[in-house]
Amino acid sequence: MSSRGKSSKVSGFYKMPVEKRVEFVKNFSDLTDEETRIFSSSLDIKTADKMIENVLGTFELPLGVSVNFLVNCKDYLVPMAIEESSVVAAASNAAKIARINGGFTAKCTNPLMIGQLQILNAADIAGAAQNIMDHKKEILLLANAQDKILVDLGGGAKDLEVRILDSPLGKMIVTHLIVDVRDAMGANAVNTMCEAVAPMLEEITGGKVRLKILSNLADRRLVKAKAVFEKEKMGGEHVVDAFLESYTLASVDPYRAATHNKGIMNGIDALIIATGNDFRAIEAGAHAYAARSGQYTSLTTYHKDKNGNLVGEIELPLAVGIVGGAASMHPKARLCRKILGVTTAKELAEVVASLGLAQNFAALFALSTVGIQKGHMSLHAKNIAVMAGAKGNQIDKVAEQLIKEKKIKLDRAKEILAEIR
Ligand code: MEV
Repeated sequence: MSSRGKSSKVSGFYKMPVEKRVEFVKNFSDLTDEETRIFSSSLDIKTADKMIENVLGTFELPLGVSVNFLVNCKDYLVPMAIEESSVVAAASNAAKIARINGGFTAKCTNPLMIGQLQILNAADIAGAAQNIMDHKKEILLLANAQDKILVDLGGGAKDLEVRILDSPLGKMIVTHLIVDVRDAMGANAVNTMCEAVAPMLEEITGGKVRLKILSNLADRRLVKAKAVFEKEKMGGEHVVDAFLESYTLASVDPYRAATHNKGIMNGIDALIIATGNDFRAIEAGAHAYAARSGQYTSLTTYHKDKNGNLVGEIELPLAVGIVGGAASMHPKARLCRKILGVTTAKELAEVVASLGLAQNFAALFALSTVGIQKGHMSLHAKNIAVMAGAKGNQIDKVAEQLIKEKKIKLDRAKEILAEIR
């Protein structure tokens, strides 16, 4: 049993009716009846109208949950908001295999974000850069005066870095303000601090501060996750070898690495969206990090251990928050956080990274063996049946026939529907 006292390991979850699944999640995460009702409600229009401009309505995605996750000896049910079939099932299956060897171990650095200040036209670039470092204490003090609450929580501006870059405009200084943002994603705190210290930097350098903005390459806020996947559960050591061959292409070829990392983001984005986080920020950070060596490559690495089992690891920046923005405003995001049972942004990031690794393992496992179309078949057939106009139990009947005929086509679905009607 995990530190949570309840196990997320469950068989046949996908076969349960929706109400039974909701009941299971309710019991696992101690949801109230009122919270349970949020699953079937939409974001109310007044809240939506406060979140963005020119609101017309809301846009729904299916919300599922991945089961079997054990991360740092704690059980998790992982909510996922996504439109693509097979992703949730694949993650659950990967987590089931990982938990045989203790599940995922994950570790996150302190939540340090980088704010950039671009300084142009300083007469003496090297002297100006030195002056900035000489005034580090005052700059950090001014930055921290912008967010007393964050400082009281142990966060705030912690450090300064100065870089001198060559550019088509000549040399320019870029100052990095390193801010511990605690449980927030951090964009607001960092941007406010950058704007506040900009006039001081102009005075110190004699230059002009142009950009003052957070960097989404959050490479001071890194998360690592690791798991051992049992060779027997994969079908033997030859499958581990086939897996490693598939993985190797992503490690050397950007064309494959893009697809490989897309599979990782299938899981990551789904949880990021479910918890009301900014998936564009996560995507931008992940892909920039994947290209940090100058060649875009895989976010995961794999090798075989001495027992012939597969060891998978992932490392990426994850700027996730559990306070502020949609994470606080959106009732479903709050509900998803309760389902997860995470209490800090660090813990959330550790689950997110583990899910990314699980998703990548599942995709490569399928690709190295049966291919991915088999897994997609059943839901795809149901989608086609719905597109053909099937309703209620007609959907399953049409889908079953399409699969039997191995011809999942809209025109055939329409014919079958006409026959059964
Ligand atoms: C599909 O959404 C994701 C995959 O293409 C990922 C991969 O190829 O590794 C299956």
